[in-house]
Amino acid sequence: MSADAPIGVFDSGIGGLTVVRAIHALLPGESTLYLGDTARVPYGSKSPETVRRYAREILAWLEGRAVKAIVVACNTATAHALEELSAAASVPVVGVIEPGARAAIAATRGGVIGVIGTAGTIRSGAYGRALRRLRPAVRVVEQPCPLFVPLVEEGWFDHPATRLVAEEYLAPLRAAGVDTIVLGCTHYPMLSTLIGDVLGPEVARIDSAQETARELAAVLAARHLEAPRGTVVHHRWAATDDVARFASVGERFVGEPLPAIELAVLGSEPFS
Ligand code: DGL
Repeated sequence: MSADAPIGVFDSGIGGLTVVRAIHALLPGESTLYLGDTARVPYGSKSPETVRRYAREILAWLEGRAVKAIVVACNTATAHALEELSAAASVPVVGVIEPGARAAIAATRGGVIGVIGTAGTIRSGAYGRALRRLRPAVRVVEQPCPLFVPLVEEGWFDHPATRLVAEEYLAPLRAAGVDTIVLGCTHYPMLSTLIGDVLGPEVARIDSAQETARELAAVLAARHLEAPRGTVVHHRWAATDDVARFASVGERFVGEPLPAIELAVLGSEPFS
């Protein structure tokens, strides 16, 4: 595997672009290949078995393109499939849950941490386990927020409807006195300001995207996989459906136009 190869990043759709944006900001010398499974989004409401099958197909697709590391940008896919992907992959695999949990433990003052995510992520209990592994005495209050993803996809980052929904979802966390909240879904960093308004500035908001980029940097350094100086940086984009919508919504996530999006056909690679 070559150090000038791209880093493969995947998500159920467009939301994982928040993770790519963080990788580009922290590691400007690295190339990325992003795959959004827009044909099968959302993963958040699907069974763990189905998400694992999707993740295996994506692993085969990315390995077929000789990536040097894989970032599972999707919280739901990390919750259900990270272990299996790490065991099966020929390259290092980084998920978003462990880095987010570490940052939350570092940030909490009173040891009461809120976690918000898709129904699948919250049902898996993966964040709670990761947090308690790091600090057994921590109190974790978990809350699924399934309406946030469609609201973000609609571009309603600061819309009265989104604010109303956030008030409802976040009320139990406020009542529990959380001092830190993990934005445990790719889409939620886009609502960070609004969530801050609802919970108040004293509640620390943890964006797994930035923490994951840091974890990736550490993994690349430990394996001597950092792109050599002078490597030409090239970012590629792929989606499994509707590349035009991927381009228009994705632009808002990355903050720049996404050129030449490939239409990926999954399931055509042999599983390793
Ligand atoms: N990417 C998913 C996550 O982070 C959110 C969208 C979905 O449900 O697929 O959990």
